[in-house]
Amino acid sequence: MWMCGIYIASVLHIFFACFVLWVVPVQYVFYADLVAFPVSLFALLRDIVSRWYTLALAENLRKASSVIDSASNSSDESDRTESSARASGTSKARKRNGNIKQTVSAIANAPSSNFQHPEQVTLIKNIINGESSRGCGIPFGKVFLLIVQIALFAMVLDFVYRPLIFPGENLFIFRPGFVSHDTAKLHIRYSDGGQYELRYKPLASAGSAAAGSVDWNSAANVPWESAGHFDPPTNATDYTVTVKLQNLKPSTKYAIELHSLESTLHAPSVLLGSVELTTAPVPGSPARLRFGTGSCIKPNFPYRPTTTPDVYGFASMLGHSDNLDMIMFMGDFIYADVPQYIGGETEDYRRLYRQVYMAPSTRSLLRKVPMLHVYDDHEIKNNWHLKDKPPMGSAMTAYNEYNGKPNPPTVAPDVAYFNFTHGNIAFYAWDTRRYRTLWETKEKAAGEHTMLGAEQKAHFFQWLRDVNQTAAVKFVVSSVPVTTGWSNHDSNQDTWRGYPTERTEILEMTKYVPNLYFLSGDRHEMAATKLASGNIEFSTSPISMFTFPIVGNFVKDSGGETTLHYRRPGRVKYGIIDVDTVSDPKIPKVTYSLYTTDVDDAQSPAWIYEAKGSRWN
Ligand SMILES: *[C@@H]1O[C@H](CO)[C@@H](O)[C@H](O)[C@H]1NC(C)=O
Ligand SMILES: *[C@@H]1O[C@H](CO)[C@@H](O)[C@H](O)[C@H]1NC(C)=O
Ligand SMILES: *[C@@H]1O[C@H](CO)[C@@H](O)[C@H](O)[C@H]1NC(C)=O
Repeated sequence: MWMCGIYIASVLHIFFACFVLWVVPVQYVFYADLVAFPVSLFALLRDIVSRWYTLALAENLRKASSVIDSASNSSDESDRTESSARASGTSKARKRNGNIKQTVSAIANAPSSNFQHPEQVTLIKNIINGESSRGCGIPFGKVFLLIVQIALFAMVLDFVYRPLIFPGENLFIFRPGFVSHDTAKLHIRYSDGGQYELRYKPLASAGSAAAGSVDWNSAANVPWESAGHFDPPTNATDYTVTVKLQNLKPSTKYAIELHSLESTLHAPSVLLGSVELTTAPVPGSPARLRFGTGSCIKPNFPYRPTTTPDVYGFASMLGHSDNLDMIMFMGDFIYADVPQYIGGETEDYRRLYRQVYMAPSTRSLLRKVPMLHVYDDHEIKNNWHLKDKPPMGSAMTAYNEYNGKPNPPTVAPDVAYFNFTHGNIAFYAWDTRRYRTLWETKEKAAGEHTMLGAEQKAHFFQWLRDVNQTAAVKFVVSSVPVTTGWSNHDSNQDTWRGYPTERTEILEMTKYVPNLYFLSGDRHEMAATKLASGNIEFSTSPISMFTFPIVGNFVKDSGGETTLHYRRPGRVKYGIIDVDTVSDPKIPKVTYSLYTTDVDDAQSPAWIYEAKGSRWN
């Protein structure tokens, strides 16, 4: 029974730990592991120690009884005419010897002993009888199992609590944020104190040099311009700041450098970092745009024991980064509550952002490619629908410091949704979280509930009317899918499927807007869907997260929709979208390519879709 218990606890711990580290880092399995590990540790240790102790005891008893045997034998033989006092001493010794032998057999036969296994009882009897040695008394199999258990648990702790162990307080960030035709935002995190300076110079304009070839000689002769001296960011913003360069030329590649003005013995300033970026074409003009889309990141999942945890999806995207104009990140950049919610203070959230920015691939990728963001529930807490209730405030503070400020300008100062253009390609990024009808009241107000809120929806509809005939291609970015294909309990509440009235209202509008595409993420699965309105949605995730084992949650061709492609497996999945409104100004081309490390290690697309463009004006 006891042996059985040891193995059950050990097997459960191994199962839970492996599940959290390599299958799905789900909270309840992590909690179950927190229980299974100490039980299995205690059982194994108790077994190892008591076995060692009992065998040692048996050995000592055998030695003791043999000493007494020889002592009493010799006293019997040496002097049979000793005094009565001595004779009585000998009989005492004999009696003790008898007691010890009784104890020995009692240990071997005791029903409560750990040694109920017949082989072990035999072993102990043999030791006592001097017929066998106890060896070193250590059960190596169980010790090995113990080491495996401890190692697995250490990995689980590292995976879950790494943000607390390595909070990344000295993290340095210098990356391009939103780049318009005449401005560029630069996102900086710099905690070393001291004033800094931004310098920039044009390298080449899209017209002047063949794509990808920069005339370095002429670039070398262009003098650096200073964008100004700045005071260092402070702990009030977790040492982050977003600086905007103005009056840049459209479609032009720039080099930008960040210098610390703290002079050293050798130099008046120190180069901290440099980036290159290319400004967008003039608004309204035909354009080519290549951008990545994806969502959902848990650094170092699936787990690898390493000192530099990475974001595996970014490592893969880096291979396609040379000609990417931007990445549209669609939410769940951090997982505040997976597998455990670490706390609702601003600092708790900041630590998680720093983890993602610390990863080597994030650093390499974001130096080269501007990333724009919408947030989703895990930037706050799973399935967030409680408007501005805590911890929304602290979550948004950290989100803005790391991802929000470097975004395009928002529609109003205190909102997160935004719209922008790249030539004649228009984008609208929704905030699908902050304005949701509370679920508790949803039933009461059946049919009335909203995901966008009245103000955002009105602005979005205005935008739709404005870009309808001015933009060749329109992208609407939603953190949660528009398709009704995902229909499990969670999706019913959390995605657009749970907001059918507003969804219908929106699709009635977009139905007559040519070349409008929805982009979303969230489900850790990929689905390209032709919605009943005729608009196409590309829902692509995760960039680095689990997928549901064995079965997915997607129902193809649901509710008048046509599923163009569906893919469940692949813990790295992202899309790359090519838009071309230049080749044929009347009929734009949009090509979607799905990449996953499961297919050709994401070297080539797992699926390509060339959307049929419509005449737009
Ligand atoms: C920022 O640092 C100052 C001292 O340099 C300290 O007094 C203050 O409490 C810190 N503020 C935060 C928000 O950590
Ligand atoms: C955003 O959309 C509104 C409404 O159509 C429009 O007035 C505004 O110019 C757009 N902003 C940008 C940056 O394109
Ligand atoms: C977009 O333009 C088309 C064609 O002119 C028109 O039928 C449709 O109502 C317009 N949609 C919106 C939202 O303005």
